[in-house]
Amino acid sequence: MAQELDWGSLPFGYVKTDYNVRCYYRDGKWGPIEVSDSDTINIHMAATALHYGQEIFEGLKAFRGVDGKIRIFRLEENAKRMRSSAEGLLMQPLPEDIFREMCLKVVKLNERFVPPYGTGASLYIRPLEIGLSPRVGVKEADEYLFLMLVTPVGPYFKGGFQNTNICIMRGYDRVAPLGTGRFKCGGNYAASLASGKKAHDLGYSAVLFLDPKEKKYLDECGPANFYAIKDGKYITPASDSILPSITNMSLMDLCADMGIPVERRHITVDELESVSEAAACGTAAVCSPIGEIDDLDTGRKYVISKDGKPGPVTTEFYNRLNAIRLGECEDTHGWNTIVE
Ligand code: PLP
Ligand code: COI
Repeated sequence: MAQELDWGSLPFGYVKTDYNVRCYYRDGKWGPIEVSDSDTINIHMAATALHYGQEIFEGLKAFRGVDGKIRIFRLEENAKRMRSSAEGLLMQPLPEDIFREMCLKVVKLNERFVPPYGTGASLYIRPLEIGLSPRVGVKEADEYLFLMLVTPVGPYFKGGFQNTNICIMRGYDRVAPLGTGRFKCGGNYAASLASGKKAHDLGYSAVLFLDPKEKKYLDECGPANFYAIKDGKYITPASDSILPSITNMSLMDLCADMGIPVERRHITVDELESVSEAAACGTAAVCSPIGEIDDLDTGRKYVISKDGKPGPVTTEFYNRLNAIRLGECEDTHGWNTIVE
């Protein structure tokens, strides 16, 4: 029961909530939004989602603000990215207005699971689309299920806003150079599990993947984008094989507000020697400061944080982002959708 949840110490995990919402694409059109209180789905054993990976998802968050109102962060951007993922995997894209309606509905229906203001927790919204049609030959489905589930979550990296260490391992890629890296499909995450487990077993919070073509440039950081602060500038990888992070995009806008120049470009591993801050950014990760980056192939250790504390720019990003999402300051960029 929601009342019994210990909001302040929620992990980033699944908690059963009251309802999820579903929409089916059949006979060439999207049907009505259906409400379900079951957390299982019944699909054909030969569905394309199961055999050929026609599965895409999203992740966004709703917050209880200082004024008691619930705000969803940048839902239009997630709707757009999900459309792009659908197109990338030859799936049926969900119109953005239905995405919005489903988001508002699923949050409203599960209002009692939106963590209270001040707990640091939020309601994670997970949109998911799967191909339903049975296929034995490799071919796209013509029927799809789009659903949204929600679950209250705490921080993604244990301990919340504090430094963690990450590592570089050239023996693994999560995506191919012109593959599915810029789409949010389950296959990318399946491909990251083995290296992620190895990194965790060695005490690292994530793998910093290199570009899969040349293994020369930084790509992204587990389930998050990467940025660093170098000579007072915000630098973040320009790459076709990473997910275009909405958090990263938002931080670049905050840089403009804060007068910090932004460079989206290739970043070599050696450059890590001269950065003053580094972090992983994403919906789940928010901006998670990185203390040290260990290159497990060369044995080099890049100590980013000299004092063991999150750097000033990352701390400012974290505070500004939270203040906007919690309604503590004006939403000058128009990023929040208030759930009425
Ligand atoms: N990169 C990957 C691989 C991710 O899974 C995520 C999380 O969604 C991100 C980056 C960050 O994207 P966003 O800030 O839109 O959550
Ligand atoms: C997110 O940040 O929303 C993610 O999708 C990361 C991970 C939990 C898959």
